[in-house]
Amino acid sequence: MSAEAADCELIESIGDLDRRLGSHRRQGSSIGFVPTLGGLHGGHRSLIEAARGSCDVVVVSVFLNPTQFEDPADLARYPRDLATDRALAAGAGADVVFAPTVEEMYPAGIPEVTVDPGALGAVFEGTARPGHFRGVATVVAKLLAIVAPASAYFGEKDYQQLVVVRQLVADLSLPVGVVACPTVREPDGLAVSSRNAFLSTAERRAAIVLYRALRAGEDAVTAGATDAAGVESTMRSMVGTEPTVVLDYARVVEDGRLEPAQTVTGNVALLIAARLGRVRLIDNLRVVR
Ligand code: PAJ
Repeated sequence: MSAEAADCELIESIGDLDRRLGSHRRQGSSIGFVPTLGGLHGGHRSLIEAARGSCDVVVVSVFLNPTQFEDPADLARYPRDLATDRALAAGAGADVVFAPTVEEMYPAGIPEVTVDPGALGAVFEGTARPGHFRGVATVVAKLLAIVAPASAYFGEKDYQQLVVVRQLVADLSLPVGVVACPTVREPDGLAVSSRNAFLSTAERRAAIVLYRALRAGEDAVTAGATDAAGVESTMRSMVGTEPTVVLDYARVVEDGRLEPAQTVTGNVALLIAARLGRVRLIDNLRVVR
């Protein structure tokens, strides 16, 4: 273990975390929180570094939350390597890694009372993954209650999750600031994701078409296209150049929302999801104009 990792404390119980953070709270220190599922990579690192840059104490949770996985195979193959996660978190400036067991988080089993994300959880990823956003909203609410941070950091990579989390915080009046961080990409533009590791060499090469499609959509909007359907068709055509990539959706929505845009008037977000073999990838690009 590196010297940095030794400085980053591993805490596995809610009680221990409370004791560790209690003195900071009394001193009025600001707590920054980065929730993760584990399998930490450069995307997570950017969130932790952002928290480090603005908060006195940085807590990273590593909790592979079973209630947000509707596909048991997806959960089973998810990366689990706490030592590596802890080293990455420490290197990025985390003070505490909170890694509770499933029993610690859900002592009575699947919770009776859950957070319903409403219509926001029923579209896009919610259609492909029923129940996913209920699981996310519920565990994020629990983690925010446990850590009680001043600020919580989320990636724009998961656009819909960010929309759901912002609405959760607003609707339940949770006393936390939500900070959105830009998507970290590989040099060729593919959004960094733990799922990229499951792509074959050929699939990895083909996966770049998602980013190309987003850029083609962006170019169309920047060039003055106002018809959302036309922009969507531009994105679809680009994905069509890779026959092995099965498009799920390519849509234009109003920036920060999930309603499909009919005409592109203000800022928009381009959303895309596709399957490559058994791997499903999502990406998005915000276009400010
Ligand atoms: P996870 O997939 O581990 O992602 C944790 C955070 O990292 C999320 O906010 C996600 O948007 C962000 N992230 C992932 N890849 C990124 C990238 N390439 N660039 C920037 N940020 C990136 O999202 C979850 O976990 C869970 O649903 C969670 C919120 C922890 C609830 O269980």
